[in-house]
Amino acid sequence: MGGMLDKVAGVVYGADYNPEQWDRATWAADLELMRQAGVNLVNVGIFSWAELEPCLGEYRFEWLDDVLDALAAAGIFVNLANATATPPPWFSTCYPEALPVLADGSRLWPGARQAFCPSSPVYREHALRITRLIAERYAEHPALVMWHVSNEIGGRNALCYCDESAAAFRKWLEVRYGTLDELNRAWGTTFWGQRYSEWTQLLPPRRAPTFGNPTHDLDFRRFSSDACLDIYRAERDVIRAVTPDIPVTTNIIPNHRDLDYWRWAPEVDVIAADHYLKAHDPEAHIELALTADVARGLAAGEPWMLMEHSTSAVNWQPRNIAKQPGEMIRNSLQHVARGADSVMFFQWRASRFGAEKYHSAMVPHAGTDSKVWKEVVELGGILSRLHDVVETTLEADVALIFDYESRWALETGSHPTVDVTYLDRVAPLYRATWDSGITVDVVSPDAELTGYKMVLVPSLYITRESTAARIDQFVTAGGHAIVTYMSGIVDEYLHIHPGPHPGAMRDWLGVWVEEFFPLRAGEQVGLDDDSQVEVWTEMLRLDGATPVTTYKDGPLPGVPAVTRHDHGEGTVWYMATRLEDDATARLVNQALKVAGIKPPIPMVTAPSGLEVTRRRGDSGCFLFLINHGSETAHVLAKGHDLVADTAINGRLSLLPGRVAVIQEEAP
Ligand code: GLA
Repeated sequence: MGGMLDKVAGVVYGADYNPEQWDRATWAADLELMRQAGVNLVNVGIFSWAELEPCLGEYRFEWLDDVLDALAAAGIFVNLANATATPPPWFSTCYPEALPVLADGSRLWPGARQAFCPSSPVYREHALRITRLIAERYAEHPALVMWHVSNEIGGRNALCYCDESAAAFRKWLEVRYGTLDELNRAWGTTFWGQRYSEWTQLLPPRRAPTFGNPTHDLDFRRFSSDACLDIYRAERDVIRAVTPDIPVTTNIIPNHRDLDYWRWAPEVDVIAADHYLKAHDPEAHIELALTADVARGLAAGEPWMLMEHSTSAVNWQPRNIAKQPGEMIRNSLQHVARGADSVMFFQWRASRFGAEKYHSAMVPHAGTDSKVWKEVVELGGILSRLHDVVETTLEADVALIFDYESRWALETGSHPTVDVTYLDRVAPLYRATWDSGITVDVVSPDAELTGYKMVLVPSLYITRESTAARIDQFVTAGGHAIVTYMSGIVDEYLHIHPGPHPGAMRDWLGVWVEEFFPLRAGEQVGLDDDSQVEVWTEMLRLDGATPVTTYKDGPLPGVPAVTRHDHGEGTVWYMATRLEDDATARLVNQALKVAGIKPPIPMVTAPSGLEVTRRRGDSGCFLFLINHGSETAHVLAKGHDLVADTAINGRLSLLPGRVAVIQEEAP
């Protein structure tokens, strides 16, 4: 991984390794199996605080010394955790005030994991203490190539409403607003008589008789994400002071609802993402692709690490569906196709006990005479042939603006309908591009758009003037944009932009909204292209745009539902309603055509479900083809397929379920 993990050659391959659950004979067997699979990195010690310090101040590091020595001797590198993901039972007994509190005031108990308040000073004190001990003890260890801070920070405890959080929230607000007058203005406290006259009156948005102040809620979410980031930073800084040259990261969940990872991205040395398939979703591979693209976006287009995924079923969904033969390899290579330079799993060996004993692993309960193990070894072989893919990057003509804050704001408090949710419009826009083989860069609302040909703007509820101006300039200069309803409505304080909706975008969308007309549950309205819409309609008025489709019936017959506005040198499309997925895809394809955007390769036949990306760099060009569909795909390509390890002389037929990674010949 070049600059990131200098010593680890090629694609990183491995897992969370929890030897504390096993005897020493199993450790020895593990090392031999890791060699067979081609594992070159393991994440060690993530949940080991209670093993390393079973009582306050009483340490047992010897087992970890032995594990690391054995790994080093076997040539396997270590991403060493600072063990803070779960404080030991003694900690919660001594310091019950560090346990997290819910909005209704009830305190959570220990007994699972992550039972701590991110703002707790005493948690911080002890977390930094154990971090320093671990960093100093293993600083020079030959196996150490990376530090793994905590685990999925804030994944289950981001929002804590305790008194410690209240104190930290007040400080955060003082930094943000400076004066109470500013805060009162931003929160609009003249509404419902909420004016604050002392900082001490400010609390987390605890359970109240009715809807809280939306800006209060939003700021608390911002604060909570920052509080998690703050404890990460503190742990990282302790490590950095000891080993300034070893990269530090923490594993994130790119699509997690409680953290604004745009703010985290600059603080980690490498983006390390976890992803688990949504087993109930028959097209879970498209959600996988989107999440991987979010990870690549957080990495600013650079390679990133897939830190965890699963070899087969997980244990925590209502129905944990095992992966079909070949599915794991497809999933893993999908992440690589989208910029990952590592393939790692939770976990190395399936546990015999504990909450996740039914979770799949690289070594399943069934042992090595199993589909999972055989595929683990096969995948190791494939990855060893992909070494030149490392450090190459993807190119995209399309950007999708992704905003964690708009998700928080849209999905908390009172709105025109409960049916408008954030990912609801992200997913079909993304899916339409995925189906067309078009690579999308996921970008923040603050991103520079120059260089793209098209920008997708799903439900960008919070739109800062600067973001609106950037999209305007992008389109004026010849770019193309697709904007969906509930974009451009409020500013960063959740104040409605002045004048008719969508205030921040009205001028360049060429439309304005006289009134929202959300639909009743289950109500469908027909369009003049014979498709149906649901959830949302608006009394749209044209001011420069032209209608693409109009409502045939429902509350607004004859009113435009989708519009097109040629603005400057470019075009902007506005979807004022919730189109069906097929209609969304038709519109996206029309816009792609107008923008002159094409997939990376000519297809002879392009069955649905064929995923195509290209990674490019000094080491060459790599065409990834993943056939998720049920028909054979025929593609024109020349080069060497690194998966099958065969030459491709012009035409490739890719069977359903198969993957090809073609190292292309220079033109
Ligand atoms: C998360 C955690 C792991 C494990 C897996 C199970 O990603 O980081 O410790 O619990 O989920 O899917």
